[in-house]
Amino acid sequence: MSSKKLIEKAEKTSLLTKEEIVEILKDNSINQQLFNTANRVRKNFVGESVHLRGLIEFSNICKCSCKYCGLRKDNSTIKRYRMSSQEIMRLAQSALSYGYKTIVLQSGEDAFFDTEKMCSIIRKIKKLGFAITLSLGEKTFEEYQAYKHAGADRYLLRIETTDKKLYENLHPFMSFENRKRCLKDLKSLGFETGTGCLVGLPGQTYESLAEDILFFKEIDADMIGLGPFIPCPQTPLEKASGGTFESALKVMALTRLLLPDINIPATTAMETLHPNGRIIALQCGANVVMPDITEGEYRQQYAIYPGKADVQNTPLEYKDKITVQIQSIGRTISDTFGFRNNHLKNN
Ligand code: 5AD
Repeated sequence: MSSKKLIEKAEKTSLLTKEEIVEILKDNSINQQLFNTANRVRKNFVGESVHLRGLIEFSNICKCSCKYCGLRKDNSTIKRYRMSSQEIMRLAQSALSYGYKTIVLQSGEDAFFDTEKMCSIIRKIKKLGFAITLSLGEKTFEEYQAYKHAGADRYLLRIETTDKKLYENLHPFMSFENRKRCLKDLKSLGFETGTGCLVGLPGQTYESLAEDILFFKEIDADMIGLGPFIPCPQTPLEKASGGTFESALKVMALTRLLLPDINIPATTAMETLHPNGRIIALQCGANVVMPDITEGEYRQQYAIYPGKADVQNTPLEYKDKITVQIQSIGRTISDTFGFRNNHLKNN
């Protein structure tokens, strides 16, 4: 079947084989058709509203050594910070006044925030009336369970790549099996579970990207965040060539075709590689934006890769800017919590 026909089939059935995905990834003559189809599927399944999630990056301290990430523990050139729970609560209060319905708490793998400290923060934020998404890395089943009991609703943990060899090469001292165990635990505990991958890693193939997309479907992910790999100074991959905006967009559009009703953010990495990257992503399958609501000097210091978009704006400026942009493409800002499967009910 031609790639054109394969895209039509995917729109109708939400199914593609690995070989078919590879075919579409390889063929750049059909990109516009792929993007238009993903946009239509997004509209039909999750509607016109865009969910804004307020992102608080509360600690850039990390015990991991992921070879692509600027926050890796071996990078001694960045200034490390850890917010107090009062600072986190102040940001959550501001988010409330800006109209956010979800807070995303993201950090490096920072052992300072033990289960008790995390649960106390979760309970306080929950009391303000937010839905809570966590992005704290790999934890035990018991820790995830405690977060859930404290009131967390969603959890983001990218698989990064499903190529086991590549995964283990990029993540010293970590195991692919444990990563998958975490995702399984999160699902079984009833979290809305988000995962995703990097696009353009050294040694990554079309076949492995196709496997990534099929993995998202296999575990029935509720959210998929993905973006281009952007080489970061002071990391072992600083000289690598990195991913392109277009290829990340293609993987995202294909993800929308195969998982039509999930939440997909237009990621900061997309905006970093293209000045209008977020809005383009929203027109190629995405339906979520996660504005960084971290304030002050911390905003620059969460430097997972260079040139991170939005660090120049204050959170309020950015919220206003993205609202205008979203409305200018005929979309609306959601005033619901934006859980998966509730889309059409609460649009
Ligand atoms: N380029 C793009 N994305 C990156 N991430 C980490 N380092 C980079 C980089 N250099 C992504 C990872 C992680 C998320 C929080 O940021 O996919 O899961």
